[in-house]
Amino acid sequence: MDVFEAIETRRAIKKFDSTYKMSNNDVQKLMEHVILAPTSYNQQNWRFVYVTDRDVKEKISVAARGQAQPKDGSLVVILCGDMNAWKTEPIRYWKNHPAEKQETVKAALERKYDGNPQNQRDEAVRSCGMAAQTIMLAARQMGLDSCPMVGFEYDELSELIKLPEDHLIVMMVVVGKRAEDAAVRGGQLPLDQVAFENSF
Ligand SMILES: Cc1cc2nc3c(=O)[nH]c(=O)nc-3n(C[C@H](O)[C@H](O)[C@H](O)COP(=O)(O)O)c2cc1C
Repeated sequence: MDVFEAIETRRAIKKFDSTYKMSNNDVQKLMEHVILAPTSYNQQNWRFVYVTDRDVKEKISVAARGQAQPKDGSLVVILCGDMNAWKTEPIRYWKNHPAEKQETVKAALERKYDGNPQNQRDEAVRSCGMAAQTIMLAARQMGLDSCPMVGFEYDELSELIKLPEDHLIVMMVVVGKRAEDAAVRGGQLPLDQVAFENSF
């Protein structure tokens, strides 16, 4: 499958085949590709809780106000942002580069995020958004489907996954085999209403 086809055929699937189970290798392969998603300054501030356990998936469905996708899908990835990633041994984000580069990035991270929770939070959302789309496109490449989700009780899900205090749940993505095609697209806005050449 080429990338255009993956983009065109990715849909938010509502009904997954509950009998289909991804192999451990497939889960591993998917997760290894997800961590190639880009992050600002390569700070890799996403943290992923990936769930294949049936009981946990069922509890996630309850937290998702009864939506069936988590329990019926094979894999649920909960994408969280670590709002302190910018200051947690940042040198390691550039370990393949010279010390000078490492220090430059460390200083830049401090300038941008120190004392600025809004920037920390925005970065978590940006990074997880990139990773979510990466999951969904990689799933298509593997012949699988997905559903991005934010329809869940935040506190309930946080407790279930033991979310650390300085982390934010951004969204979750369910991956599995579709049991039913998605309905016809809701209706995309025309390109010229959303894309503007050079300026608004
Ligand atoms: C951030 C985000 C949250 C979403 N939350 C849910 C959800 O909780 N349940 C659901 O069934 N679909 C959810 N969706 C799917 C959207 O409704 C769907 O992506 C949109 O209608 C466009 O359809 P398509 O993805 O099939 O093109 C969510 C999508 C996004 C991007």
